[in-house]
Formats: sequence, structure tokens, C-alpha cells
Amino acid sequence: PRQIWLTRHGESEDNVKGRIGGDAPLTPLGLQFREDLAKFIAEQRILFQERLHIAQLQKSDMLQGAAIAAGESSETAATAATSVVAAAAVPSDDFTSDPDHDHDQSNSCYDDGFLKPFSVWSSMMKRSLQTAAAFDEDAYDVKAMKMLDEICSGMCEGMTYKEIRTQYPAEYEARKHDKLQYRYPGSGGESYLDVIYRLQSVIVEIERLQHHVLIIGHRVIMRIILAYFLGCGREDIAYLNVPLHTVYCIEPRPYGTDTYQYNYDP
Ligand code: F6P
Repeated sequence: PRQIWLTRHGESEDNVKGRIGGDAPLTPLGLQFREDLAKFIAEQRILFQERLHIAQLQKSDMLQGAAIAAGESSETAATAATSVVAAAAVPSDDFTSDPDHDHDQSNSCYDDGFLKPFSVWSSMMKRSLQTAAAFDEDAYDVKAMKMLDEICSGMCEGMTYKEIRTQYPAEYEARKHDKLQYRYPGSGGESYLDVIYRLQSVIVEIERLQHHVLIIGHRVIMRIILAYFLGCGREDIAYLNVPLHTVYCIEPRPYGTDTYQYNYDP
């Protein structure tokens, strides 16, 4: 069991001005969000581990009860149950119960002997990098990926939606008509479909990961990753509501996923 956490970067100066694209830094509120986000994730990381531990203890209680019901003496049953807990606590790639346990210590998120590893992936844009900077690299495996950058809006970079409607009315209407396929004109301009394409390998990597990950992305990036895990139809992707300062947690299950949403209230 593991968790996939998703959030947009903290509020940026362009968010406040209503400007799309660009590479603006965080506002004071955005800086506050990143500090609180790092604290929240650290707490959630420990809570999850405690939940796992309790589930293991409950499983061992159930086995003990079943063994007694099957006619074994309570002493034999207790021994069997203890070995289940012990097996679950044996150091593995993900758990280290022995501080002297000899394995690769290059990433010290393994050092505490308790917590599962945790990756933090951001885009290469300033607002996302600044948000990720609140995560201590000794405790998290922090990585920046260009594939997580926000949609490039070509010649509309840095404009407000109102300016686009006034200066390029035909482009504005074309996007409104087919937001998924519409590609912004101008250098590097992308469509949702282009971004879906470049995110494919990131999604494969998320699926392959055995441990927790927090992705600090952007509006379009969040829409696409959330839509994938929630199983949304193509027609809904470009309209999913993913506000700033909202954190999503996805827990993949054998059948489907559980999703939680946390709203930031400073
Ligand atoms: O406004 C923030 C932002 O991330 C822009 O940089 C981006 O162009 C936009 O949201 C994407 O949202 P939509 O596809 O609804 O225009």
C-alpha cells in the first residue's frame, strides 16, 4: 500500500494577476502554503505508517482468533500470531527496523528505520521548484522533471483570458469550441492532447513506483493525472476543478482507487 499525492504549486504572482503561463515566483501566501504543505505531508506520512502498523496488528489478532476457534491451544496460536507480526516487521527495501542494517544509505529517507521512502516530483518551473524546496532532501527523494511543466500557451503566454479574447478572438473561440484538441499557436504552443502525450511516461513511472510520491504540478498537469486515476472521460479532462492550495491523495487498491481531497485553510 502506498499513496500518490497531487497538488498545484503555491500561489504565484501571475495567478494573482490572472496571467497564464510565464515563470513567476510565489507570492507570500504561496510561500506560506509550501511551508504548511511540507508539515502536512510529514504528518500524513507518519499517520499512514501508523495505520499500516495497526492493520498488521489487527491481522495478527484475527489469525490468533481463527487458530483458537480451530482448536489449537491459545499458546500455540499466540506464537503463530507473533510470527506474522515479526514477518511484517522484517527489514525490506521499504522498511528498516534495525538502525545498523547494512544497505544503501545514500538516500537518508531510509535512515530512520520507520518511514517508507517518499518521492517529491516538481516541474522545472519556478513556482513549482519553489514549492518543492520546502521538502528536506534528507527526508525525501526530490526530483524536478520538465515533463511536469504547465501547458505552453505559445503566443498567449503571459496574457489574461480577457486579453486573449480581445486580441485574438478567433483563437479564443477555437479553444472554447474544442479545448482538448486546441493547440496554442506560436513557439512551443501545446494542446491538452500534447500534454497528455508527454505525461504518459510520468504516469507509467507513477504506476511502477512502490512507494509514496507527491507531485507538485500545474492546473493542466493535475487535471490529466487526476483524470487518469479517477477514470474520467476525455470530454471532462479539460474542465476538472483543481483549485490552487488543494491537495489530493490517491490510494491505489486492488480494485479501483480511494481518493481524498484536503483544502488548505491558512
Ligand atoms: O492560470 C494558471 C494556469 O496553470 C495557466 O498557466 C494555464 O495556461 C492554465 O492554468 C490552464 O487552464 P485552462 O486549460 O483552463 O486554460
